[in-house]
Amino acid sequence: MDFELQEEHKLLVEMVRHFADKELTPVAPQMDAQEEFPVNNLRKMAELGLMAMTVPEKYGGSGMDTVSFSLAMMEVGRACASTAVTMSVTNMVAEGIHRFGNDDQKKKYIPPIASGEFAAASFALTEPWAGSDAAAIKTAAVRDGDYYVINGEKVFTTSGAYAGVMMVAAVTDRSKGKHGISVFLVEQGAPGLTIGKAEEKMGQRGSNTVSLIFEDCRVPAENLLGQEGDGFKIMLADLDGGRIGIGSMACGVMKACLEESIKYSKGRVQFGRPISDFQAIQWMLADMATELEAAENMVLQAAWLKDQGVRFTQAASMAKLFATEAANQAAYKAVQIHGGYGYTREFPVERFYRDVRVTTLYEGTSEIQRIVIARNILGKL
Ligand code: CAA
Repeated sequence: MDFELQEEHKLLVEMVRHFADKELTPVAPQMDAQEEFPVNNLRKMAELGLMAMTVPEKYGGSGMDTVSFSLAMMEVGRACASTAVTMSVTNMVAEGIHRFGNDDQKKKYIPPIASGEFAAASFALTEPWAGSDAAAIKTAAVRDGDYYVINGEKVFTTSGAYAGVMMVAAVTDRSKGKHGISVFLVEQGAPGLTIGKAEEKMGQRGSNTVSLIFEDCRVPAENLLGQEGDGFKIMLADLDGGRIGIGSMACGVMKACLEESIKYSKGRVQFGRPISDFQAIQWMLADMATELEAAENMVLQAAWLKDQGVRFTQAASMAKLFATEAANQAAYKAVQIHGGYGYTREFPVERFYRDVRVTTLYEGTSEIQRIVIARNILGKL
């Protein structure tokens, strides 16, 4: 057993940390305050090969492993969670197209994602009445000659207003239930697609979260991803990898919480001593550091399992569950350590607290992760 990162992983971490410190951290408060989509960050990240990291170079990707993706996500998450979620979902879509698409689809859609020509890519599954119960989607696609005609509505679509391409789940045969769902690659500007108003969110305010309205939206039949009826499994399988991304981002925010708390507690003097001298503060820092270590190991183990080509669904759900819940605890403690100052925008922990809240909600709530884990350990319930 070897816990040492490989040389290529260490170099990647160094490169992404340097970039994030220089380019992302300074602008993160502005992205948050002005709800500004981090398009410049994303273009620079595409130049560094961070937008289709696990896709082979043949299709314009970076040909890296999932451990590399996870490590890069941690560094970006440590600097700017809004940028990190956009990166994570875009990588998930690039990977989904690579894994389930045909050669023409891969050649058409992955290079513009990887190069930054497309600022981002989106994953459209959730609907107003189908969140955790993803199989209950109502959006429908009906074949009409060389096209499918899509009608329905998606909500909470990350980067929907900026995505060059979106993976959209729709029902093609209602009589088949979960086996009657298919996935389509829909381009931005497709006739009949309207982008709804951006959500005003508690955190990750620089990321773009919109509804998508499909009114007789015509999509070429060749944009069907995989086979008709495979859509539910395609979306869930792709989400397994996405959950590693979200868990990794949570580790990054947790690390930032710990670093800021150490810095603040060493400088803040009360009762004639830095507050880091007090056991109450030390215990909080010790718990944050311990949980961070555990979360990083779980996320990297899930990434490693994925790289071995074995089923990693349970490991990804465990890693996302643990890392995102622990990150919320860490953000709570970071604000507590900062006292009243932690409740102001003068200190970044206020943003971390808001940014991290959604990580236990999207890409499957903590309760859904527990269902996935329980089903795996008990056999299908
Ligand atoms: N990979 C591949 N196939 C899978 C799978 C996986 N991880 N999980 C299940 N399947 C297959 C099953 O084997 C089953 O196949 P068969 O019917 O052939 O046996 C089929 O899919 C249906 O599985 P279930 O009966 O278990 O499905 P279910 O309806 O009970 O739902 C669930 C399972 C785990 C609850 C699932 O609905 C789920 O994960 N829900 C949460 C959805 C979610 O995470 N949404 C987030 C959307 S993305 C987002 O957050 C926005 C963003 O951009 C950040």
